[in-house]
Amino acid sequence: MSTPETDAFRSALSVVEQSEPRIAAAIAGELENQRRQLKLIASENYASPAVLLAMGNWLSDKYAEGTPGHRFYAGCEVVDEVERIAAEHARELFGADHAYVQPHSGIDANLVAFWAILAKRVEAPRLDELGLKHVNDLSDADWETLRRDLGNQRLLGLSLDAGGHLTHGFRPNISGKMFDQRSYGVDAETGRLDYDAIRAQAQEFRPLILVAGYSAYPRNPNFRILREIADEVGATFMVDMAHFAGLVAGKVLTGDFDPVPHAHVVTSTTHKSLRGPRGGLVLCTEEYAEFVDKGCPMVLGGPMGHVMAAKAVAFAEARRPEFADYAQQIVANSQALADGLMKRDITVASGGTDNHIVLLDVFSSVGLTGRQSESVLLDGGVVTNRNSIPNDPNGAWYASGIRMGTPALTTLGMGPAEMDDVADIIAGLLKAAEPTLTKSGDQSKAKYTLDDAVAADARQRSADLLARFRLYPQVDLDG
Ligand SMILES: Cc1ncc(COP(=O)(O)O)c(C=O)c1O
Repeated sequence: MSTPETDAFRSALSVVEQSEPRIAAAIAGELENQRRQLKLIASENYASPAVLLAMGNWLSDKYAEGTPGHRFYAGCEVVDEVERIAAEHARELFGADHAYVQPHSGIDANLVAFWAILAKRVEAPRLDELGLKHVNDLSDADWETLRRDLGNQRLLGLSLDAGGHLTHGFRPNISGKMFDQRSYGVDAETGRLDYDAIRAQAQEFRPLILVAGYSAYPRNPNFRILREIADEVGATFMVDMAHFAGLVAGKVLTGDFDPVPHAHVVTSTTHKSLRGPRGGLVLCTEEYAEFVDKGCPMVLGGPMGHVMAAKAVAFAEARRPEFADYAQQIVANSQALADGLMKRDITVASGGTDNHIVLLDVFSSVGLTGRQSESVLLDGGVVTNRNSIPNDPNGAWYASGIRMGTPALTTLGMGPAEMDDVADIIAGLLKAAEPTLTKSGDQSKAKYTLDDAVAADARQRSADLLARFRLYPQVDLDG
């Protein structure tokens, strides 16, 4: 089969093969792998061939530190154009005052945002007080005081076991080392955010930054209320929409649930539900723009021109009406998946979902840890990841939950009927597996038994579904 995509990828691989054949084989092998597995990893997707191809070229070769029109290198006019197009699409897509498209990933986007907020709220007022323009003009003593103040600010974000993210002030991440951090959780009964409790905590703790956003919360936070809380305590309100940016772009999340009109600063990845290249993005109000634009050299080096080009392509795709249909379908599918699992007696955290995430409490449903369940599902051709659930009895390593998301299968064109089949495959596998007993007679948290025939049947059913909804149907590397 000859299509432009088939020809493009075959030619590209034949060129790579001449330099390192093992890498050409690995690239082809990854496509085969992804075509073999039902991808329910909530943070993954399948970018379009146009997005993928926009990254494989000489834009990668150009250094362009700075911002469009203000670079530290000569000859940047093409990268300027690329960055301007990407930023313009991002502003239009999300209705933001300002967009900064340089961050290489979600963690970078959050670092840019944190340091922009610190620069505006701590550094700039100090310089003003002293009548100075630049940190280099500070005396050693004033610089030392400022450095300590920068490192002594408070941040309030969602706890990890309630679905928060490591970059929101947790100790293993630099954000936890930078900030004095506290977290809010979810209500033990409902599994949902309790805004009165968050308000009380914010009033007591008085953070400089209130962070919202999640990587494993199956409901939609109310950003209007959270902004009110931030205003009451004088905090900057920052939302990390890395997971649900596609639902914002596709106008599934509007009004109180759209972070952009409510937050001072919004960060995102571009590769999850937004379906772009791996990368990050910061949106902000006009008052934060000059600080966000100093992401390079604050925490970033040279921007990746090839990835900004791919972001521009992805944002252009997300501005089309088809993307809104796609975003609606993501949520319809996750609700069908949650319903299908609940009707098969698998417990779904918070009793369902309003977004792209379905969080299973596998430990209370079938007595398996998250770690066991993740492997059991993979045996049946279903890729997921284990995740803590609120107040997890098995800790973060073994965990009691499985996090699933529907952006990828929705990209393949699957709908609610297929989600019911997927729920049946998942419930069948989970119910058939059992933890093995350790020598002391306890149930293992890692090992399990699963009948080979059950696993083989699930693999076949997964393969049948994937044959009907082929990944990259326009790409044929085998001919
Ligand atoms: C909410 C959130 N923020 C930030 C990140 C970090 O993104 P990246 O892996 O691109 O650094 C993630 C990724 O999982 C995320 O879920």
